[in-house]
Amino acid sequence: MELIETGDYGQLSDIACEEVCKAAAQKPHIVLGLATGSTPLGLYERLASAHRQGKANLSKVYGINLDEYVGLGKEHALSYARYMWYNFYELIGIPGEQANIPDGLATDLESECRRYDEVIRSLGGIDLQVLGIGANGHIGFNEPADFFARDTHIVQLSDSTRQMNARFFDSPQQVPTAAVTVGVGAIMGAKRILLLASGPEKATALAAALYGAITPRVPASILQLHPCVTVIADRAACGEING
Ligand code: GLP
Repeated sequence: MELIETGDYGQLSDIACEEVCKAAAQKPHIVLGLATGSTPLGLYERLASAHRQGKANLSKVYGINLDEYVGLGKEHALSYARYMWYNFYELIGIPGEQANIPDGLATDLESECRRYDEVIRSLGGIDLQVLGIGANGHIGFNEPADFFARDTHIVQLSDSTRQMNARFFDSPQQVPTAAVTVGVGAIMGAKRILLLASGPEKATALAAALYGAITPRVPASILQLHPCVTVIADRAACGEING
């Protein structure tokens, strides 16, 4: 794994943006695996601005989102579908068919998981996967568990994840208890992975993911087995790596 330590979050976002733009210039129909949460917001903002200014053309990219809350649809202000359209897809003006997000309102969630894996397969897999990392080491919503789940699946969110994400909701009770997430198969099948980490609250998880044992208790640790991972992390997130 390559580790790029940046001075701050802005620089992290600049470098991530350069990497995505370079990849999209080489392959206009690139399939991007995309994360939500606070960490990639700077990246999306910069990508949208590069697109607007004609420095990058992102109109042909395909997006494959990592996850969605069960029970929240795109009309809900806190759904990941809404997040993606508001923070990225709308800003680069891509057609709906190119923007893929699991449907958290599907009546048959198991079928929705299979449909989503089929979408990923039909696009030939993910070219460039952008990942954040949870404070407990989760990627997408692959929570610490007894085994790595390969396929898209329904997951019960851990208390710690619900607490972390409560900042977006009016009250902690409103955070959904379950989500649909791609499995580690789609993530590890990506040709290249960019893992972004910012802030001191990620320091323990990042150190464990990069240098600890490979275990489903720290889902991001599986990335050690991927041949092409670039970690872009600010100084605070690297706090437990540098000693
Ligand atoms: C969220 C998302 C992940 C994200 C992670 C970290 O709940 N499901 O895709 O990478 O948790 O989020 P943040 O960047 O807000 O710390």
